[in-house]
Amino acid sequence: MIQRLTLRTPDDWHLHLRDGAMLRAVLPHSAAHFARAIIMPNLVPPVVTSADATAYRARILAARPEGSDFTPLMTLYLTEETDADDVAAAHASGLITAVKLYPAGATTNSASGVADFTRVRGVLERMAEIGLPLCVHGEVTDPAVDIFDREAVFIDRVLEPLRTRVPDLRVVMEHITTARAADYVRSVPAGLAATITTHHLVINRNHILAGGIKPHYYCLPVAKREEHRLALRAAATSGDARFFLGTDSAPHTDPAKLQACGCAGCFTAPNTMPILAQVFEDEGALDRLEAFTSLNGPAFYGLPPNDTQLTLERGTPDIPAQIDTEDGPVTVFDPGYPLHWRVT
Ligand code: NCD
Ligand code: ZN
Repeated sequence: MIQRLTLRTPDDWHLHLRDGAMLRAVLPHSAAHFARAIIMPNLVPPVVTSADATAYRARILAARPEGSDFTPLMTLYLTEETDADDVAAAHASGLITAVKLYPAGATTNSASGVADFTRVRGVLERMAEIGLPLCVHGEVTDPAVDIFDREAVFIDRVLEPLRTRVPDLRVVMEHITTARAADYVRSVPAGLAATITTHHLVINRNHILAGGIKPHYYCLPVAKREEHRLALRAAATSGDARFFLGTDSAPHTDPAKLQACGCAGCFTAPNTMPILAQVFEDEGALDRLEAFTSLNGPAFYGLPPNDTQLTLERGTPDIPAQIDTEDGPVTVFDPGYPLHWRVT
């Protein structure tokens, strides 16, 4: 049995760091295991312009723990008013690594997202020209579409038409939750990739709803049936370069989650690497963990992999059930079983 595992330092290709006290409390957990992360722009108000991203990046850098060289890879939140020149300048200066598309109303803080896709076509065409990737929250918001079908319907109604209209646009379908999405990504030879979260490799919808409602397992896109969880595990552990880690670690305080209308999001930054080591070991794919966490993402984004290393060893990790923030406690995602890998 392997006792130690050394990987190139992982990156997180989809992360919510929030702002203020929450940022200061959660950032050290990502910075401890990840060298870089794609930073989601869904603050209130969102990070829309290059000026917003410059200011947010400075706040993140100021919140890094002493000695950390964690690199935030900034994104802009696409709105129907987004200025293509501002996006291009932010890309040219190295400020941003991607632009994020939220269908209006799809998830937490997405009210400023896109309702009319024809209004963002100019920006998308410019992004295709300059090779700037679009990260997509792939769910339709049509109230007539069942929440468990929103990802599959998004592929047909939005993603496929968008890719046909702007074929050279590089797209990351984020936090995929269905076999359909994994198959769709595999059906496209180049220019399309997907991130997979930690929690969607662990839970299915029964974990949320059977035997009492579990708000800490509620996230968007919502976890689907077991067959989909198994399809995601197969994709993540396959070594296929089109799939890579985006934790979607999305902290909310317990009072914000544990109420009649609770927030969506699982906080997985502290225990993602121990959970993933276990998932990959259970799937007989420990030798492919590094591709998923540390190689496939940089390759898609055209960045070098990290030249530092992270070592995991067999043993019980020391992970708190909750972390304290000045805004209140945040519960860490509970995989529901004891973990037996820890980061050294
Ligand atoms: C995210 C959040 O809380 O910002 N929530 C979630 O359930 N994943 C938003 C998102 O990525 O959809
Ligand atoms: Zn997210």
